[in-house]
Amino acid sequence: MKKNLQEIFSNHPRQRDALIPILQDIQGIYGYLPAETMKAAARHCRIDPVEVYGVATFYAQFKFRPIGLNTVMVCLGTACHVMGGARILEEVQSQLGVRPGESTEDGVFTLETVACIGACALAPAMVVNKDTHGRMKAEKVTEILNAARNNSN
Ligand code: FES
Repeated sequence: MKKNLQEIFSNHPRQRDALIPILQDIQGIYGYLPAETMKAAARHCRIDPVEVYGVATFYAQFKFRPIGLNTVMVCLGTACHVMGGARILEEVQSQLGVRPGESTEDGVFTLETVACIGACALAPAMVVNKDTHGRMKAEKVTEILNAARNNSN
């Protein structure tokens, strides 16, 4: 980990403005921001670790836990909510055994919810990695998750 961080830091000046690009680079390597890397970024940029944490939590792009091989995003925006998005989420949660923001113990899936994915005409919708699944039904969840699981083997 130390070698990767040194390489990242060597590409960025020791100043506050470099913080976000540094955090992006760290996440690019680890998939999330391990706590010790945020402390190291604080030292490099000469700022308080609390400030680094504040910046990192402000931006939705940054993750603080390892993410699974597959990301499942269930839409709970207005159109999807009206068309049964909560039922889809319930089914995904039940099958994966995790809640939004969590990853399965085997590291295969991370579950997220979103406010709208821009596919309202296909509500309720969910996205697995880059594939949008519209007009979702709870009965389709198993097949979709299995396909993603098989593709990540
Ligand atoms: S509200 Fe779900 S896609 Fe827009």
